[in-house]
Amino acid sequence: MTMLSLDDVSVSYGPLTAVRNVSLDIGRGEIVFLAGPNGAGKSTLMRAIAGVLAPSQGKITVAGKSTAGMRSEAVVRLGFTLVPEGREIFGSLSVAENLSIGAYLRRDRAGIEEDMDFVLSELPALKPRLRDAAGLLSGGQQQMLAIGRALMTRAPMIAIDEPSLGLAPKLIDQVYDILLALREKRDLTLLIAEQSFMRAVEVDARLVMLRSGHVVRAGRARDLAAERSLEGSFFGFEGAAA
Ligand SMILES: Nc1ncnc2c1ncn2[C@@H]1O[C@H](COP(=O)(O)OP(=O)(O)O)[C@@H](O)[C@H]1O
Ligand SMILES: [Mg+2]
Repeated sequence: MTMLSLDDVSVSYGPLTAVRNVSLDIGRGEIVFLAGPNGAGKSTLMRAIAGVLAPSQGKITVAGKSTAGMRSEAVVRLGFTLVPEGREIFGSLSVAENLSIGAYLRRDRAGIEEDMDFVLSELPALKPRLRDAAGLLSGGQQQMLAIGRALMTRAPMIAIDEPSLGLAPKLIDQVYDILLALREKRDLTLLIAEQSFMRAVEVDARLVMLRSGHVVRAGRARDLAAERSLEGSFFGFEGAAA
């Protein structure tokens, strides 16, 4: 089953076209990396899928339904949620309140409680901090919280914009271990933006390489990384340690 389908999608900011003619299909349970240097259009594309920005051209479908004209709440209901770049945690609210925000569209009280237990068992670092202001958490803990908040939506597809941003390598490994475990347990579909494609190679994921708003390469990360010609298109920029 196709979870996400992009058909010739372009996204503009006024006269600036930040994403050009991107087509992509992601199946349920897949993990796909969107890699590219700063300014490539990764965040713009993710925001367009999430319904934060309207595409200027093309069609986006989530779980088979067009998102045209939809606001982000409606896209979450279809099954897609975004962990935005920089996490956008509410620093003055408690950790528990931030998690509850993820569930605000839901009315299934028992399911929400069950998911809260699940999130705290999968992200145990949050448990002793539930009543603390989220702004007091470390960067790694804030990333866990942002992932926990996304899980609380129950959306089967989660996009994460640069999860490794500002984190030490050891913490990045931890975040990825957790994401991969969650994917198994919840049958999640993951779309992950990173500047570097190295993590995609490491976890043997599908890779879509974006540059100046265009898809420049796409395929299995390990196959792409084995191509010598890639060194130009991929190593032509300084990727963050991802
Ligand atoms: N809010 C905005 N208004 C105008 N231009 C923007 C805005 N956000 C991003 N851009 C531009 O769009 C392009 C793509 O940016 P972005 O999607 O943030 O790339 P990435 O996430 O890959 O770093 C860049 O040229 C950037 O300057
Ligand atoms: Mg970005």
